[in-house]
Amino acid sequence: MGNCFLPPNSRVQNAHSSQQPSVPSKATSKSSLSSVPSTLTCSTASTLTVPSCSEGSYVALPTPRTEGEILSSSNLKAFTFSELKSASRNFRPDSLLGEGGFGGVFKGWIDEHTFAASRPGSGMVVAIKKLKPDGFQGHKEWLTEVQYLGQLRHPNLVKLIGYCSDGDHRLLVYEYMPKGSLENHLFKRSAQPLSWAIRMKIAVGAAKGFTFLHDGESQVIYRDVKTSNILLDSEFNAKLSDFGLAKAGPTGDNTHVSTQVMGTHGYAAPEYIATGHLSAKADVYSFGVVLLELLSGRRALDRNKIGIEQNLVDWSRPFLGDKRKLFRIMDSRLEAQYPKKAAHTVAALALSCICADAKLRPKMSEVLATLEPLQDPKEMDKSTQSDWKKDAMNPALRSPMRCQPSQRGSIGGSPLAYFE
Ligand SMILES: Nc1ncnc2c1ncn2[C@@H]1O[C@H](COP(=O)(O)OP(=O)(O)OP(=O)(O)O)[C@@H](O)[C@H]1O
Ligand SMILES: [Mg+2]
Repeated sequence: MGNCFLPPNSRVQNAHSSQQPSVPSKATSKSSLSSVPSTLTCSTASTLTVPSCSEGSYVALPTPRTEGEILSSSNLKAFTFSELKSASRNFRPDSLLGEGGFGGVFKGWIDEHTFAASRPGSGMVVAIKKLKPDGFQGHKEWLTEVQYLGQLRHPNLVKLIGYCSDGDHRLLVYEYMPKGSLENHLFKRSAQPLSWAIRMKIAVGAAKGFTFLHDGESQVIYRDVKTSNILLDSEFNAKLSDFGLAKAGPTGDNTHVSTQVMGTHGYAAPEYIATGHLSAKADVYSFGVVLLELLSGRRALDRNKIGIEQNLVDWSRPFLGDKRKLFRIMDSRLEAQYPKKAAHTVAALALSCICADAKLRPKMSEVLATLEPLQDPKEMDKSTQSDWKKDAMNPALRSPMRCQPSQRGSIGGSPLAYFE
């Protein structure tokens, strides 16, 4: 489960507030749409253009300002509360898929054509997230999620089907992801260990999602990269969920947006925590932490461990650039069944992602380009034969060379130090 933080006194002037949805304190509800288009049509004069994507998804990000505009431009089905109550069998505890800061997530069934509630076992399975009535922040995240996932479509983003804004009830209806979250697979005791190949498949899928968000003309910074937000379909294809903290990236010559610090302990980039200056490189840092979790099978933060081992970044950093020591941090549940060279490449990549200097971190597209060949068994063999020098030529891996532990005295401590 996540642990979103909002440290006091961290609010700084928002230089780009016009890009944020304005959130009236009282929500207006919207009558149901009769149908939801299966494909989105692209940009009109009233929309910003348009991140494109090699896998053929198209996106138009409008710039709505009011809640009414966000909801009406979202291309989503508007559900009533009673529809979702019957779809989830009254939110029965045995329909509960999981629980996060936002509230419970329940399994439900709807008709795949009309989206009306259907009998359990018939129609389409959905995941229904029910917002706890905890006031403004939850509502703001609900609306931000509708704003972004109502417009963005990509094979590596979870599909938002609809929402409910009925009286005080706020819910979201997503495609159902049968294998749940990466967090559960990595850390639940009862879960089968993930093989190396599946771990790489998941890393590549997630990196595709982030590359799509970062490389569009209207950049989106996700701001909450973590294993619980990476969901898995029946074939372990990774999809990003939870856009409640997403934010429009800087425009023009700006290098960052200034914003309230939000995110999750253990994953947030140090410069963002210290200054509130947010750039896409903060997502890259957090993705580096996810790579460390995939390598080590350890949580970003683990209060059950002692000393430096509580913080995965601090504990693992000295081992990441050292081929002879890397095995010491590898997940024992892999039972040494992983290609050593590929593991070194991922470790060096993770080290570059968690570099203290955000400018030296690779771009998400470079992260993806480094990870993609590791999925292919033939390429994996080839990379086993290649030497460390070849990695040094890779732009995504050059920064770790400049990020050796001895040069990182000015990192400023772990995220733990900032929040405790
Ligand atoms: N679309 C979905 N399909 C299947 N299971 C889901 C889906 N969305 C969420 N879940 C399950 O519900 C759990 C809770 O998700 P949720 O996003 O509310 O919380 P979280 O990510 O754990 O924490 P946080 O509130 O910090 O984001 C997930 O870990 C996952 O197991
Ligand atoms: Mg989540």
